[in-house]
Amino acid sequence: MDLSIIGSGYVGTTVAACFADLGHDVTAIDVDQSVVETLNAGEAPIEEPRLPELIAEHAGDSLRATTDYDAIRKTDATFLALPTPSNKDGSIDLQFMKAGAEGVGEALSPKDGYHTVIVKSTVVPGTTEDVLAPIIEETADRSQGDQLGIAMNPEFLREGTAVADFLNPDKLVFGSDHPQAIDDLHGVFAPLLERHDAPVVETGAREAEMIKYANNAFLASKVSLINDLGNICKELGVDAYEVADAIGLDDRISAKFLRSGLGWGGSCWPKDISAITHVAKQHDYDPPILEAAVAVNDLQPRRFLRLMDQHVTVDDEPVAVLGLSFKPGTDDIRNARSIEVIDGLQSRNAEVVAYDPVASANMLEIFPDIEYADSPADALEGAVAALIVTEWDEISGLDEEFDAMAEPVVIDGRRAIDRREGLVYEGLTW
Ligand code: UGA
Repeated sequence: MDLSIIGSGYVGTTVAACFADLGHDVTAIDVDQSVVETLNAGEAPIEEPRLPELIAEHAGDSLRATTDYDAIRKTDATFLALPTPSNKDGSIDLQFMKAGAEGVGEALSPKDGYHTVIVKSTVVPGTTEDVLAPIIEETADRSQGDQLGIAMNPEFLREGTAVADFLNPDKLVFGSDHPQAIDDLHGVFAPLLERHDAPVVETGAREAEMIKYANNAFLASKVSLINDLGNICKELGVDAYEVADAIGLDDRISAKFLRSGLGWGGSCWPKDISAITHVAKQHDYDPPILEAAVAVNDLQPRRFLRLMDQHVTVDDEPVAVLGLSFKPGTDDIRNARSIEVIDGLQSRNAEVVAYDPVASANMLEIFPDIEYADSPADALEGAVAALIVTEWDEISGLDEEFDAMAEPVVIDGRRAIDRREGLVYEGLTW
């Protein structure tokens, strides 16, 4: 099939490259000329494992990029993979989605014949049918039915493993109120399902939209619950990781996403939880568990710094912050716990020396006034405390580098290293 993908962020680019690899002809459409040139040069516009290889293999052949929405007309189906950021009040900002829907509709209007539009971005329930479909129908001058199919197909890709997650999904969700559009999605995903057998959930557009929020909200609440229990463990002198290992053996709980510590960040969970909470409140429901999940998450960096305060005074002293990205394997610092940790250190007048294998350049934009070390050893040299924020392998592998500290106080927010002789070691939940 011929597919067009609007938006070349980490979802759009991954989807485009993977569909090209599955044998579809793919046109990536983005307003950013430099992203388009990068893709057409056979390079990846974002950091994501395996993407460079896929793009290099298919660019100029089954994968091409353009800024021109008219390219949609030559394709059978179009994915909308545009950003859905938060407004100041936490609600979802649909400006890019609405503009994209309008662009797609206008490009489609001269097309004879059927076309499918698939919403890939995370949007609050009702958006596809009540907001985007009317824009597309009006600008394309056709209604859903013989000439137009509109569907919602949420994504469950994690940063750092997006390609593997796309090609080996746990499930596919096909959402539409029109059976033809569900069939269209079966056609689009047929080559993937031939390669990898996954359950397909066929449902309405609103349910598909809600499934995405429920998935993220459930995982974030799971991490906050283990952090809540982990905080109790810490107070009682119990190792939360031993407890998690045991409860994870219960199939109903499962061992995944039970790592307690500094909590969650990234571009998705905070934004999605705030968007769905905002929608709930608009319907006079204050979701207590989601609010508590956020409250526990907000608490963790403060508890972390309090542990440090119990062992050392950092006023005017160097403190090493090890790891800046919101999780290992990415240079993404959006809502990273390191931001709150560095804020807290600055309010204590500490001299922050940060290290991250890839995220320092991004953090420099938020904190231009702290020091960035080239290696963890450089960050530790002379420090009165080391704060482990992201569990990169090279941080977990540190050992005699701690000997160069002025005071050997290590506060671990991620269970990255073991307690060891000679270190004053504190784990956040163990
Ligand atoms: C998340 C979801 O896992 C994806 O399924 C979803 O598609 C994506 O959001 C999205 O909506 O686009 P991602 O944000 O890449 O993916 O990150 P995760 O690997 O899920 O981790 C989220 C945060 O939770 C990280 O800060 C991580 O350090 C933290 N975490 C995760 C824990 O603190 N403990 C755990 O046990 C697991």
